[in-house]
Amino acid sequence: MAAVSGWGKLGRSTNIAPRGPSAYSIPNFLRGDCAVSDGEVFPVFETWAQKAHLDAAGYEAAAARAKTDPDGFWREVAGRLDWITPPTQIKDVSFNKSDFRIRWFADGVLNVSVNCLDRHIAARGDQTAIIWESDDPEIHTTLTYRELLAEVCRMANVLKAKGVRKGDRVTIYLPMIPAAAVAMLACARIGAVHSVVFGGFSPDALAGRIQDCDSKVVITADEGLRGGKTVPLKRNVDEALKTCPGVTDVVVVRRTRGEVPMTEGRDAFYSELKTTVADTCEPEPMNAEDPLFILYTSGSTGKPKGVLHTTGGYLTWAAYTHELVFDYRPGEIFWCTADIGWVTGHSYVVYGPLANAATSLMFEGVPNYPTNSRFWDVIDKHQVEIFYTAPTAIRALMREGDEPVTRTSRKSLRLLGSVGEPINPEAWLWYYRVVGEARCPIVDTWWQTETGGVLMSPLPGATHMKPGSCTKPLPGVQPQLVDAEGKVLDGAVSGNLVITDSWPGQMRTVYGDHERFIATYFTTYPGKYFTGDGARRDEDGDYWITGRVDDVINVSGHRIGTAEVESALVANPNVAEAAVVGYPHPVKGQGIYCYVTLNADVTPTDILEAELKGWVRREIGPFAAPDVVQFAPGLPKTRSGKIMRRILRKIAEDDLSNLGDTSTLADPSVVDDLVKNRTQQS
Ligand code: WT7
Repeated sequence: MAAVSGWGKLGRSTNIAPRGPSAYSIPNFLRGDCAVSDGEVFPVFETWAQKAHLDAAGYEAAAARAKTDPDGFWREVAGRLDWITPPTQIKDVSFNKSDFRIRWFADGVLNVSVNCLDRHIAARGDQTAIIWESDDPEIHTTLTYRELLAEVCRMANVLKAKGVRKGDRVTIYLPMIPAAAVAMLACARIGAVHSVVFGGFSPDALAGRIQDCDSKVVITADEGLRGGKTVPLKRNVDEALKTCPGVTDVVVVRRTRGEVPMTEGRDAFYSELKTTVADTCEPEPMNAEDPLFILYTSGSTGKPKGVLHTTGGYLTWAAYTHELVFDYRPGEIFWCTADIGWVTGHSYVVYGPLANAATSLMFEGVPNYPTNSRFWDVIDKHQVEIFYTAPTAIRALMREGDEPVTRTSRKSLRLLGSVGEPINPEAWLWYYRVVGEARCPIVDTWWQTETGGVLMSPLPGATHMKPGSCTKPLPGVQPQLVDAEGKVLDGAVSGNLVITDSWPGQMRTVYGDHERFIATYFTTYPGKYFTGDGARRDEDGDYWITGRVDDVINVSGHRIGTAEVESALVANPNVAEAAVVGYPHPVKGQGIYCYVTLNADVTPTDILEAELKGWVRREIGPFAAPDVVQFAPGLPKTRSGKIMRRILRKIAEDDLSNLGDTSTLADPSVVDDLVKNRTQQS
């Protein structure tokens, strides 16, 4: 086992006095370097080793078989689904440019909504499929599997009546209400491809996503409701559609019943449409490699990529990982706090849990409304057994002290999960001790929109835990660390994280741009999938994700391309040039730091600074609002005109002793100005 040092002897014992919010500090690994100690090791709980789906020996055996007999192994894993035609072809993959292909279960035929609904009806028709907890703590509703199926069929019939056919794209712009899951499953039922756009995106961002995949139908709500505030979803759609002439129909779900303008002939309320259709709908038989959904995500260039997932492989992966990582048993109450607008919501609010006959809790609200106890109150109210959230939420709640947690019971909890960004050991330990009372294992799950589901995580019955480490790959996942030149690095070492072979949940293409798919993920290290993440492997072979090594930043678990923020800034008439970098932020993980050069005739003022923050907020969405805007008369550039981001990152991180060689800059004096006028963050 690895040495214990660095984070102090905070480990196994449970009688350590709780640490107050002031004890928080930014760990090195959030700063992006690799000086991380291995900290304490938490062994597998004996009780879990005995009853879990996989214990340590089972994990080793599964991982070995996935390597030696991949077809046999994956055929068995896919056998968990109901196939109309079971696949005989299992894995057909090459990551090499000359014969590139990723195909799984290629001759299999199935329908995703049947796997998530119909097949559970006989045994579990009256079991709750979705518990919906409203933003208002007084209001919740439940839907049984039978009710959910009927509702999905109605929505499917409404879409069909609007002319939606197999292969057509449907954009879903909804808040966290059951209709969001219904809309996704309704698309799956008729073979339409959904593109869910997070409700926090601006009209412009929504329009870009509608145009890119050419949706003719948009499903939205009158308004969303979060933390007591309304979100003008329908008005945003109206604004977006000014530049989307291809959209013929907007289906509007009533949420707040707020007044919204309706365009004659285009817009209709779902509550009215659904009374005109039947509550049964024949499922469309889909080939395993038919597309299931597109989900846009940020990369290092300005334009978001439409990540495309297909039917058989994605659902196999979502269901398999949901069962394994959370040691899930049918009927248990599972709560993933992610919005369905992100992949975590797709895989662990909707598809994984429902494929496994779960009761999935869907939460409309936010962690601190009406009080900082909201998460824990909801856990007690609905007797939640498995709880899965993001480090940013844990850090924000940790700041409020222990009392909002300890005043609740949380006795129903048996497992905790973390996702979306590196969790700093201090937050991990607080989550473990205060929330889980040292009796719930924590699974720190590393994955990406591109991977469809979890790739690395401890398994509660099989793997020890280390605060801040996602530990080991799941069976069949083959990570590797390489240096900048692609040389494979062995042993305890830091490097760039690649995956050397495919898994069923892997994305298949960038919608409409297969070349870009191959260029983005398979050319940096030919023949390997490049994750864009850096990682360290310790002496035990455990992985520690150190963060993105590309121009992507992770703000509160939201992935944002610095190029997207830059193009939003330069679209402002006052701005000549902009460069955006991430910096360590105590709650958000990373904050957004913008260096802005104004046009020659524009004076930098506090008002303009606020205006630019508001501008980006409106251009992309509130979650992308800059934390810092620093006006810079010039940006550090090489003589060939390339912006030296390394220097900008160091200044933003306040790591001024370590600016490196600035002599190759076209004008080294710009650095002095940037340092002198560095904007302090709180
Ligand atoms: C990026 C992917 C995972 C689904 C939600 C985010 C970072 C994600 C972890 C983790 C350290 C993590 C990575 C990754 N990330 N989970 N457990 N530990 N980093 O999906 O928006 O596609 O972002 O999130 O940097 O590349 P995404």
